[in-house]
Amino acid sequence: MNEDTEHQTSHIFGIRYMTENFIQGILDDASEIKQNPSKYAEALKGKILSLAFWEASTRTRLSFESAMLRLGGKTLGFSSQAGTSIEKGESLSDTITMLAGYSDCIVLRHPLRGSCKLAAKIADKYGVPVISGGSGSQEHPTQALLDIFTIQEYHHRLSGLNVGIVGDLRYSRTISSLLFALGKFGRNTIYYLSHPSLHLQDELVYDLESTDLEMHKATNLAEIISSLDVLYVTRLQKERFPDPMLYNKVKESYQLRPDLMKAAKEDLIIMHPLPRVDEIPYAIDRFPQAKYFEQAKNGVYTRMAVLNRLIH
Ligand code: CP
Repeated sequence: MNEDTEHQTSHIFGIRYMTENFIQGILDDASEIKQNPSKYAEALKGKILSLAFWEASTRTRLSFESAMLRLGGKTLGFSSQAGTSIEKGESLSDTITMLAGYSDCIVLRHPLRGSCKLAAKIADKYGVPVISGGSGSQEHPTQALLDIFTIQEYHHRLSGLNVGIVGDLRYSRTISSLLFALGKFGRNTIYYLSHPSLHLQDELVYDLESTDLEMHKATNLAEIISSLDVLYVTRLQKERFPDPMLYNKVKESYQLRPDLMKAAKEDLIIMHPLPRVDEIPYAIDRFPQAKYFEQAKNGVYTRMAVLNRLIH
């Protein structure tokens, strides 16, 4: 669980704080739930999950909702500030205090760095766990859990893998969490490919130095695709670009074109946290290596495992 001893309740705000044992336990639980979903149909009967989303989401919010319903629990919450008293100026801390009184667990998506830790500190007083549903451009821990669950399902291992990461590596919280997750499971080789303005942040590269990840900069997809076990593509996040002109300039540079697939291994898996825009054309969907929709579905089983562990 989180190695942050400041909190007494178990919260999830970053993969970097989780032990390998805790992560493996979640993956094992998710696999068991996927095989025997009916066994868990009443596991959280009588419990309520709050979904507090300050930012847009389809997969994270709805797969958490689906997970809670499939566990026999109920959900409440909001999907934007509109229609809540946040519009009247209510603070994050007061909103979390309210939700801690109304529910047994809170999933939070918020744009500000540190928002999840603050929420956890407040909810801790009420014994209510907080789970990050993606916080700023820092971390998206449950996305990383479903990502490595999918990788393990196809490759039956989480080490000795060649993983290409492509697109927006600077502003993608998904990439940060995935790298921390892969870094906990031994030696993996990462080929990173992005526009110079979207390279991995220095702070992240520094934090990853303590892991066994071998990092290689790639210059184009054609150069690396034949050696990859996993190709993880990300969207250029227009909303996080400081300059819209720059977004328009680089958006098509890192597209996975169908002709590139000729060199791909049969057991390559193509992943994407979604939503996609231009970086994976629809023509790629017909390749057996395209796994991004299965990956998104695995979010339900992984999040069922997380909720089942955290809510008592
Ligand atoms: N992968 C992901 O976080 O998608 P949403 O933004 O739709 O939740």
